[in-house]
Amino acid sequence: MNQDELKQLVGTAAVDFVKDGMVLGLGTGSTAKYMVDALGKKIKEEHLNIVGVPTSERTKKHANSLGITTKSMDDVDHIDLTIDGADQIDKNFQGIKGGGASHLREKIVAINSTKNIWIVDKSKMVDKFGSFPIPIEVIPYGSRQLFKRLKEKGYHPKFRMDEKKHVITDSSNWVIDLDIHEIDNPRQLATDLEHMTGIVEHGLFLDIVNTVIVGRDSGPQIIQVR
Ligand code: 5RP
Repeated sequence: MNQDELKQLVGTAAVDFVKDGMVLGLGTGSTAKYMVDALGKKIKEEHLNIVGVPTSERTKKHANSLGITTKSMDDVDHIDLTIDGADQIDKNFQGIKGGGASHLREKIVAINSTKNIWIVDKSKMVDKFGSFPIPIEVIPYGSRQLFKRLKEKGYHPKFRMDEKKHVITDSSNWVIDLDIHEIDNPRQLATDLEHMTGIVEHGLFLDIVNTVIVGRDSGPQIIQVR
C-alpha cells in the first residue's frame, strides 16, 4: 500500500472508537481528513449524535461540509476523545506535531481531552527525533530577535514561508521550524522552548497520546500506550 492508502486505512480504523453521544476532537492534516470523511459516513449511517471540536479552520470547514456539527473548544465542557495525525512518534510514544501549522489548537484540544488517539502511516514511527523539524508558533512581533536567539542556541531556525509570505496560523501567528538533527532529550528541549518569550507553543507533544494506530501493509496496528 502507498502512504496515502495507509493514511486512509488508519483514518477509517479510528472511527471504530467513536461512540454515540461523544464530544470528539477533530485533528488536522491529510490523515485526519480521512478520519473526518469516515466519521461523516458513520454518523449518517448509524444516526449518531456527535459534536466535533475542530483543531483548525480547515478541519471545521471540511467537517461542516459533511454535515458534522462542530463547536469551539470554549463552547463544550469536555472532550471525550480526540483523533489526530502526527508528524513523528518516537519509541517512547512522544510526538511531533505542527507540520500543518495547527499544533497550538491541536495541543489545546488534546490536553482537554479524556483520551487521545494518533493515526499515522508506518513512516511516522521513528526510534528517535531529529529528522523532522520541530515547529514552533511564534508571535510576529519581535520574531526576528527570537530567531537570532534560536540560532545562537544552535536550533537551526527557519521561518515557514508560503512562496514569499509567512505562513499565518489560525491564531494569526507565524511558524518557525527548528531543524535540530540530534534530539537526545525532548523533555529538556520542550522546557527550554517553553521558557523563551515570543514562542506561543512548540510542536513537541509529550505524554499525551493514549492509543496509536499505525498503518501497516498487514493492516492497522493498534497500540495502547497509557
Ligand atoms: C498538523 C499536524 C498533523 O497532524 C501532522 O502534520 C500530520 O499530517 P499528515 O496527516 O498530513 O501527515 O500536526 O499541524
